[in-house]
Amino acid sequence: MNAGDPLPIGQHDLEIQANKDAWQRKPQLRAVYRGFHEAIASRLDRSVPGLVVELGSGMGSIKEVIPDCVTTDLFPNPWLDRQENAYRLGFADGSVSNLILFDVWHHLRYPGAALREFRRVLKPGGRVIVFDPAMSWTGRVVYGLFHHEPLGMGQPITWDAPAGFDAKDADYFAAQGAATRIFWMREAPGRLADWEICEVSPLPSFEYLATGGFSGPQLGGPGMFRLWRRLDRALAPWPNLFAARLLVVLKRTP
Ligand SMILES: C[S@@+](CC[C@H](N)C(=O)[O-])C[C@H]1O[C@@H](n2cnc3c(N)ncnc32)[C@H](O)[C@@H]1O
Repeated sequence: MNAGDPLPIGQHDLEIQANKDAWQRKPQLRAVYRGFHEAIASRLDRSVPGLVVELGSGMGSIKEVIPDCVTTDLFPNPWLDRQENAYRLGFADGSVSNLILFDVWHHLRYPGAALREFRRVLKPGGRVIVFDPAMSWTGRVVYGLFHHEPLGMGQPITWDAPAGFDAKDADYFAAQGAATRIFWMREAPGRLADWEICEVSPLPSFEYLATGGFSGPQLGGPGMFRLWRRLDRALAPWPNLFAARLLVVLKRTP
């Protein structure tokens, strides 16, 4: 698969259902996700009134850490609160305080179109919190070799949807390097003029890579995970070499 190749949108739901099995089988993966969700929770701005919403919630596990989070996805799975599409949200103008996208940004073929919709539903001062793969040299090797989605590092970024685009026509798109290129490498700085960029943190996460994610084998038992965590802390000063996850916080300007 190459970035940009169209697949039916239902591919996401097939992956969600498969991920649910892996989630039950892999306690270490659940523990690492809990840590990621806690990092996201610590970035919420609770002083802004409005709903905390996650887009593309998949299995909806974020509720274990952020119980009041409204979980949503393209598919009306029974464990989620709502069905929502990032390109056309059902929330009223200014009704959302914090919008969370965990491993969703790299599935947005038209990031500019989604950001315009995020701006509409967010209160001024509200936040978009993006958590996505980071393409350090380690990230490129591991995600490039061991994950089925393309990195898309050399593909043009299609910021805006074509005229006449309807959210319901969105197809399956994946470019794992999308957040890195836009927020970390700042390939399209003028496009983010409407947003204050509060944080861009590339994080080493051998702890996460060693879980094998949802589809790969886990490396080592619980004892090893303490070592991976220590290694991640030690490698933090060299994000260009070792980062595997990118945490981004945007604030809606007035
Ligand atoms: C890689 S999964 C991540 C699921 C979950 N956030 C997690 O981390 O386990 C990507 C999710 O994004 C959703 N998604 C893709 N395009 C979307 C869109 N345009 N609007 C809302 N959700 C979308 C998919 O349905 C899928 O559940």
